[in-house]
Amino acid sequence: MKADEVLTAHHDVLRGLLRDLAETTGEEVGRREELRSRLVRELEIHTQIEDELFYPAVVDVSPLLSLAHAEHRQIDDQLAIVMRTAPDDPEFVTEVRMLEKTLRHHTMEEEQRMFPQSHALGVDRLEELGRQLQERQRELADSGGMRLIVRLKRAVLRLV
Ligand SMILES: [Fe+2]
Ligand SMILES: [Fe+2]
Repeated sequence: MKADEVLTAHHDVLRGLLRDLAETTGEEVGRREELRSRLVRELEIHTQIEDELFYPAVVDVSPLLSLAHAEHRQIDDQLAIVMRTAPDDPEFVTEVRMLEKTLRHHTMEEEQRMFPQSHALGVDRLEELGRQLQERQRELADSGGMRLIVRLKRAVLRLV
């Protein structure tokens, strides 16, 4: 799989989790907690593999990098708010929908603008990059999430 295909497939996972989470009710506290944990994990893995591998690889072919980094920070901040909102809080879905809106905008921008720009790297490089992204994605998923937890705590503390 080419790098942009790997990332688009992961966008679908993220969008699906956010849609499911937005459709829960205040009665489904357990399901909200479970979906939120999965979302936090997948979203952290996604921003990390992009920041570490994909964005540096496209720096010469895409002028959208600083915008994308700013949007990652915005997503981090909105995720931290969702994490700090109790699952039975009436505002929970509102916060989830705000995060969903930002994430939809960001992923669409990547898919419609940045990924086409990345094609300038050529098929071989995109395939190689795709393998690296998948490998790192697996590694982070298996790592027990310690680094992710540290990052998240920092994100939450920033907003206190
Ligand atoms: Fe991104
Ligand atoms: Fe992305």
